[in-house]
Amino acid sequence: MKIAVGCDHGGYVLLAPVMEHLKERGIEADAFGSVDGARTDYPKVGEAVAKKVACGEYDFGIVMCGTGIGISLAANKVRGIRCANVSEAYSAAMSRRHNNCNMLALGGRTLGDQLALTLVDAFLDASFEGGRHEKRVGMIMAIEEEESSDTLK
Ligand code: RB5
Repeated sequence: MKIAVGCDHGGYVLLAPVMEHLKERGIEADAFGSVDGARTDYPKVGEAVAKKVACGEYDFGIVMCGTGIGISLAANKVRGIRCANVSEAYSAAMSRRHNNCNMLALGGRTLGDQLALTLVDAFLDASFEGGRHEKRVGMIMAIEEEESSDTLK
């Protein structure tokens, strides 16, 4: 498994704990965005990480900004991305089990390190259940198709 991790300056506080945790779990991960804590525009980081996941270069993306909101909004604009911004473990797991999310967003100013790592584990340890959820996730992705065909009209 290969994970792309990205943050802006608001999420930077979680970068080292998340990277270290993934390493401890034996997961290959690369960091993008504000890797030195410098002020960075979160839409660019969300987009960059999302594109790396969407093209298959990475299996999952984990992105962090101050709240996780802005960077998840940006990531979700990239075709093929389902990014969940969560702050408790049940939703982190359910985002995989029911929504087949391929990205997780976390808030550096809203979560402590330990909770953030618990959410990372809950996300990575859960699997998509398929079945009735397959159809519903397909319905979400169909919205992207409808939007692109609209632009041809
Ligand atoms: C940066 O100050 C902050 O706006 C950003 O990290 C994020 O919280 C946006 O959603």
